[in-house]
Amino acid sequence: MPKPGALRVLLFSASLRTDSLNTRLARLARSVLETAWATVDWATMNEFDGPSYNQDVETGSGFPHGPREMHRRLEVCNAFVIATPEYNASMPGHLKNAIDWVSRIRPQPFNARHGLLMSASPSMAGGNRGLWSLRIPLEHLGARVFPDMFSLAQAHKAFGDGGQLAEKQLATRFEENLRAFLDLVEAATHYPCIKKAWVEFLGEPGDTVGRVEAA
Ligand SMILES: Cc1cc2nc3c(=O)[nH]c(=O)nc-3n(C[C@H](O)[C@H](O)[C@H](O)COP(=O)(O)O)c2cc1C
Repeated sequence: MPKPGALRVLLFSASLRTDSLNTRLARLARSVLETAWATVDWATMNEFDGPSYNQDVETGSGFPHGPREMHRRLEVCNAFVIATPEYNASMPGHLKNAIDWVSRIRPQPFNARHGLLMSASPSMAGGNRGLWSLRIPLEHLGARVFPDMFSLAQAHKAFGDGGQLAEKQLATRFEENLRAFLDLVEAATHYPCIKKAWVEFLGEPGDTVGRVEAA
């Protein structure tokens, strides 16, 4: 168990809508994380959203506010948790767009940072395919994405009146998933993983200043 407040976790729902099921799931995650003594930085996707990535904009006027904010808050956390909707069997475009912008800012903040992914959907699969698609760019960027992911099926019927998961077994699994993740993040603060290098993908010119981060 980490010391009270020792681990800082950036937590956000990747839904932009007000009555989001994923935001409800993220709220639950917040209470579990805080009960386990983590310090939670609660964010909304509105804070991180930005215009479609355009390299001309990056070169001409720099990074938009939303992605800069996401970068800043990732930089000061030990780990991040994302609750995301699934759109057409993938992640929402605005989330991928934010990741694309942030991936251009140095130091590249996903590298070596621990992440936990969760989803909620009215479907029977709970948005799980979206999480597999989200895993790809995050792992590409060097994030340590926790093996267990949590997908809440039939999410429109899954919450009780107090906002808890109505089904007890599911509530226990949700809590255990988050606690196991925190344990790993805590362990990693004492035993940093060997992998430290993140190298920009093949095809980028190798002589561009700041393109490559190495151990
Ligand atoms: C463009 C679009 C595509 C969607 N595609 C899927 C899908 O592939 N799988 C799924 O389970 N739900 C899909 N849905 C339904 C969402 O899971 C549902 O709207 C959910 O409530 C969105 O998450 P939120 O409540 O956090 O905003 C889609 C919704 C939209 C708007």
